[in-house]
Amino acid sequence: MSEKNEDMIVTPWKVSGEVDYDRLIEQFGTQPITENLLERIRKHTGEIHLQLRRRIFFSHRDLDWILDMYEAGKKFVLYTGRGPSGPVHIGHLVPWFFTKHLQDKFDAKLYFQMTDDEKFLMHPEFTLGKVIDLTYDNALDVIAVGFDPEKTFIISDVNHIKALYKLAIRVAKHVTFSTVRAVFGFEESSNIGMIFFPAIQAVPCFIESMLTGENVPCLIPAAIDQDPYWRMTRDVAPKLGYYKPAQIHCKFMPGLGRGGKMSASMPETCIFTTDPPEVAERKVWNAFTGGKPTLKEQRLEGGEPSICTVFQYFSFFFEEDDKALKELEVRCRSGDIICGECKEKLAERIKRFLSEHQKRREKAKDVINDFFIDDKV
Ligand code: TYM
Repeated sequence: MSEKNEDMIVTPWKVSGEVDYDRLIEQFGTQPITENLLERIRKHTGEIHLQLRRRIFFSHRDLDWILDMYEAGKKFVLYTGRGPSGPVHIGHLVPWFFTKHLQDKFDAKLYFQMTDDEKFLMHPEFTLGKVIDLTYDNALDVIAVGFDPEKTFIISDVNHIKALYKLAIRVAKHVTFSTVRAVFGFEESSNIGMIFFPAIQAVPCFIESMLTGENVPCLIPAAIDQDPYWRMTRDVAPKLGYYKPAQIHCKFMPGLGRGGKMSASMPETCIFTTDPPEVAERKVWNAFTGGKPTLKEQRLEGGEPSICTVFQYFSFFFEEDDKALKELEVRCRSGDIICGECKEKLAERIKRFLSEHQKRREKAKDVINDFFIDDKV
């Protein structure tokens, strides 16, 4: 283990230390996304999506197999989700935007799971009422991303358990306590709800197969923190007679502070989708950058985009033009541009994005019920 990432921790509930993505590929046993794979994707999507071009989605399992199946005429379903523990931040939108792109290009159904049960079980202070409210609140953000209402099914674990339970117990029967303890780090003091919960998160991988009575491939776009669930689920899948779910993993959008992923537990370094634009602007002005302490040094020595959160935000989301991004990088390194200019530009773009997203979020209130999976399933 190298010194630099000695304290790297990446689990579904905690991400800390400097994340070494190459090492995660090795540790989790996933595959890097190669140029060849990108070329295969290009055949179906036309232009390669920004998040793939910039290797924000950097790793996968069985994506080549998903394409083999698709090319042989077998469509796949998409599955992603959210643990509603507070307001949505723009880091969460990273995998959701990419999922929408996949839905559009591959004309795929999407199962979107709201793990309100997980958040209820995890947080001693949360009531059921609170997590259900958050499910509805967060679903507005999901809908605002623009998913197709005809092909998108949002599942609240708490409200729609009937749709999940038969599959959940079939999964659970094949997973021992010792496996979930090893995979998720549960302890003797963990509540038994949490110990069962991984079976619930596995279910949407198979729901389409159960409903149609056919074996349907499933692709999960998510950040790599969710990977432990898929390792467990992939072991169980063949025992239930289903395909193993495939994954495509993204990196973490950083917070605006020094190091670490964007996390709601540090609200000042986190842009929530519901932040009033002027609040988001203030957060951007306080962001950690790769700039030098004085203007004179910056002009002379240049800045360091690789550690700059403002530059990362352009790269993840807010600068679609690759040439413009490159130019920004070169101008920063040469000292031609100073942090204030970049912050101003980013703040403008974030404010514009938020005001548009917030309008779509308002409109989502009228259609929210069209998106929830119903209990007949
Ligand atoms: P949650 O609510 O922690 O995260 C929701 C989604 O956002 C991703 N994510 C991020 N992506 C980029 N940058 C960040 N800073 C960042 N922070 C979080 C997560 O990987 C996730 O994709 N248990 C899950 C909910 C869930 C789920 C799923 C997620 C249920 N089924 C299937 C993905 C796929 C959770 O609490 O996610």
